Amino acid sequence: MTEFKRQVLPDEKNKDVVETLQARLVDLLDLSLQLKQAHWCVVGHNFRTVHLQLDEIIDDVRMGSDEVAERISTLGLAPDGRASTVAETSSLSKMDAKFFSASHTVTIVADLLQTTVNGLRESIEKLGDLDPISEDMLIAITAGLEKHLWMVQSQEE
Ligand SMILES: [Fe+2]
Repeated sequence: MTEFKRQVLPDEKNKDVVETLQARLVDLLDLSLQLKQAHWCVVGHNFRTVHLQLDEIIDDVRMGSDEVAERISTLGLAPDGRASTVAETSSLSKMDAKFFSASHTVTIVADLLQTTVNGLRESIEKLGDLDPISEDMLIAITAGLEKHLWMVQSQEE
């Protein structure tokens, strides 16, 4: 059951769509936090390029997470972006809290982006039959992240 009197999707589809979006929400939130971690801890040659590039990616990831969360609200259920939920349910691996060279940072970030994109693509497949509006939203977010993945992994030595 949704929180609202008027709902845009029938109950039998709504649950699956919201579950799928919730899984992507926590990945995007985790990604934005770990990218900040990487932004603070990059050192060495190319520091400035990677440091600044990470903030550009973070802006897009945060915008994406906001869209996904608000889509869940639109569907009549409460999104869960609490830190504890993110920690318990994210599908991303956890980077170490230490300084990394710019070249190693690039590899860590490319791997995190890849995992996030894989999850998004799986969800896009799933949503195809359930909700084209949510599907379309994830497609747009994924296109942006895949472009970032290109620009990050192109720097790998
Ligand atoms: Fe900063």
